[in-house]
Amino acid sequence: MQYFQNLAQNFALSYAHNKMENSLYKSLNIDIIDKNIDKIPDKNKKYMLYAHVPFCHVFCPYCSFHKYHYNEDACKKYFVNLREEMCQIKEAGYDFSSMYVGGGTTLIDEDELLKTLELAKKLFSITDISCETDPNHITPQKLSLFKGYIDRISVGVQSFDDEILRKVARYDKFGSQKQLVEKLSSAIGILPTTSLDLIFNFPFQTKEQLVTDINLAKSLSPEQITFYPLMKSPLTRDAIAKSLGVSSQNNEQEFYAILRDEFKTYNANNAWAFSKQKSNLVDEYVGSNHEYVGIGSGAFSFLDGRLLINAFNLEEYGSRINARKSPVIATCDFTRNERLKYIFLTELFDGAVDIAKFNKANNANLKKELFMEISLLRLVNAIYEEDGRIKPTEFGSYICVVLMKDFYTGMDKVRAAFKDDAKIKSSKKLRVMEDEPTLVQNLEVKSS
Ligand SMILES: C[S@@+](CC[C@H](N)C(=O)[O-])C[C@H]1O[C@@H](n2cnc3c(N)ncnc32)[C@H](O)[C@@H]1O
Ligand code: SF4
Repeated sequence: MQYFQNLAQNFALSYAHNKMENSLYKSLNIDIIDKNIDKIPDKNKKYMLYAHVPFCHVFCPYCSFHKYHYNEDACKKYFVNLREEMCQIKEAGYDFSSMYVGGGTTLIDEDELLKTLELAKKLFSITDISCETDPNHITPQKLSLFKGYIDRISVGVQSFDDEILRKVARYDKFGSQKQLVEKLSSAIGILPTTSLDLIFNFPFQTKEQLVTDINLAKSLSPEQITFYPLMKSPLTRDAIAKSLGVSSQNNEQEFYAILRDEFKTYNANNAWAFSKQKSNLVDEYVGSNHEYVGIGSGAFSFLDGRLLINAFNLEEYGSRINARKSPVIATCDFTRNERLKYIFLTELFDGAVDIAKFNKANNANLKKELFMEISLLRLVNAIYEEDGRIKPTEFGSYICVVLMKDFYTGMDKVRAAFKDDAKIKSSKKLRVMEDEPTLVQNLEVKSS
């Protein structure tokens, strides 16, 4: 019986992964545009503001986020442009209650970030701000500057294991296990919520290394602990192989089960973030807020079923903003069905889909429009219904992890497609996924 259950679940994982790849293959056909694309708010919708800070002192091999090597002048100029774009978004009529500042390293220039957050609070009805940073920008003195501004700080730890830290070139940059524990101990508690961001399923990572990471993270008692599965994309695959090696074994599902077990007394804020108390802060900027405006170089906005992509190049971004031209250089449209699937997935990833709310918000009939998806997920025991809400089982949460990872990898592929400036200038359309996916192309699933 167990054998057949495993078989069905493996099939479901491969099938779901393949469906997501197909959907990204069909949807990620990007139009490079030369006309001005204005962002216009719908008064009946709630939006989130995402601001990108693309600077780091040194790069890590696994990280595909859009970034440049830090340069003081370029960074200061950039923040000025970012604030100008924020004013233009205000003039367009937008308002926000949540803001997520991602990077790069958002606290790389504290004064500039502070000015930017002050302006955001002045322009919009913002009640919560989340920022990402590295362990070198979290001294109590630095964090205290942001009291009353940053509600949640996510600190990238990645691992506490000295061997892994050395391999991913973070040991010398951000410190050994002992130094990280010291830095984090004095940082936690200064701002309302501190989240520690770790990664699991590094090639050759052992169960013991993972459990040590979990225990050390827990022992620091941060408000939230996030464990991302290692994501590989065309931008990072080679660098990951070079720094960490290539393992024939994929422990992702087994390690995820360990995580769920170790965090069973915590609240799952979403499928990969755990907290002692239920949090209502934004966990992933794509999560609970389905529509968001992204500002900054290389930032994505998702508005009315359309992905809008800001200019990546800092010069181009700056000159567009200063000329009051839209910074959007490309767009990509999602069909209604793809949008419904995406919203369903992100809500399931967050823990539950409220059927009535879903139908009202999307003018949809969830059970009818996603009949196939829901039936299959039920069949393999990935979801169940309780009080009008569809919830994931533990296996369902793992499917969400796999699919969110696929989605983020898809977004990385978008970033990869924009690496070649010459190709962009000479194209009107960009196909992000070159090859049509075939069933069970990439997924390594365990057979028992
Ligand atoms: C944009 S990074 C900013 C973190 C910060 N600059 C630092 O280095 O600590 C946000 C988080 O994304 C996660 N991340 C980045 N690349 C990843 C990958 N390839 N797979 C899984 N998680 C990743 C890491 O946990 C990282 O802390
Ligand atoms: S993990 Fe952080 S420091 Fe490393 S490259 Fe990515 S954004 Fe920069």
